[in-house]
Amino acid sequence: MAQSSQPEGLDEIRRDFAERVAGRTRPRDARVIAAFAKVPRERFLGPGPWLIRSADGYLRTPDANPIHIYRDILVALEPLQRINNGQPSLHAAAIANLRLKDGETALHVGAGTGYYTAILAEVIGTAGRVHGYEIEPRLAALAKANLAERDNVTLHDEADPLTLPQADAIYVSAGAGGPQPRWLHALNPMGRLIFPLTGDDGSGVMLLVRRTDDPQVFEARCLGPVQFIPLVGGHDDIASPHIAAAWTDGRLARVRTLIAGRPVEPSSRLLEGDGWWLSSQAMAPKAAPLPE
Ligand SMILES: C[S@@+](CC[C@H](N)C(=O)[O-])C[C@H]1O[C@@H](n2cnc3c(N)ncnc32)[C@H](O)[C@@H]1O
Repeated sequence: MAQSSQPEGLDEIRRDFAERVAGRTRPRDARVIAAFAKVPRERFLGPGPWLIRSADGYLRTPDANPIHIYRDILVALEPLQRINNGQPSLHAAAIANLRLKDGETALHVGAGTGYYTAILAEVIGTAGRVHGYEIEPRLAALAKANLAERDNVTLHDEADPLTLPQADAIYVSAGAGGPQPRWLHALNPMGRLIFPLTGDDGSGVMLLVRRTDDPQVFEARCLGPVQFIPLVGGHDDIASPHIAAAWTDGRLARVRTLIAGRPVEPSSRLLEGDGWWLSSQAMAPKAAPLPE
């Protein structure tokens, strides 16, 4: 929607929205709040009226006035596939926890039509770069068009490449049964990965992972419960069936370390996957600890 045709007061509504969805996160990041205040959500949702996710399915907004989408709600992108533009407060908290710095490189896996890719691009600034990946061709084409004016974003044609560019941060917006080896390999030293660790029913936790000096050892923390549609190719035959139970019985809240490539001792083992393990033991004493 052209700036001139937007409803009166929409900039202020967007600023209020940004404070509500991003202003209460820990850490509170002024750049994340500013990004939500600046990026027009309606440009990434197609023409209204829009379908808002509700407990029983979707509700249609009464008209195409964008004020309806500046709430902490999910909006349909592909309703038949249950692909939605995700909940703003959840993504605001996750992006704040990536602790992005100006000029860094970030990957966004599961870009949809690009709204949260644009938020990442705002936070990282014009000296940084965001690489976006989206596997659904119609959404990928929309993301490419929606992000075309952003010089610091590359939306890749290959949605799920085996090798990824090296990155300071990786943000995954679809649920995986474990950390993909290519994500861990792509992380720069002290690089951060946030992904939804979800099981067969789509429930699980947002997991924050940070690389240490040891390429097999990553600090890890659970950021809270989530529900996500699955990442295509993200099922883990060993871990996926056990993730929901590992959340409900409290194991995932105790995660301190992710080990890839060698097992952790049984006494601290919380969850086992295909070539990776979650441990309750902190194993990277030299690094600054991740915040609780
Ligand atoms: C929960 S939706 C979120 C979309 C977007 N982040 C948003 O909130 O507007 C997850 C997205 O991940 C995409 N996706 C699933 N598996 C993928 C994969 N292996 N590589 C890239 N994208 C994938 C889906 O097509 C979908 O668009």
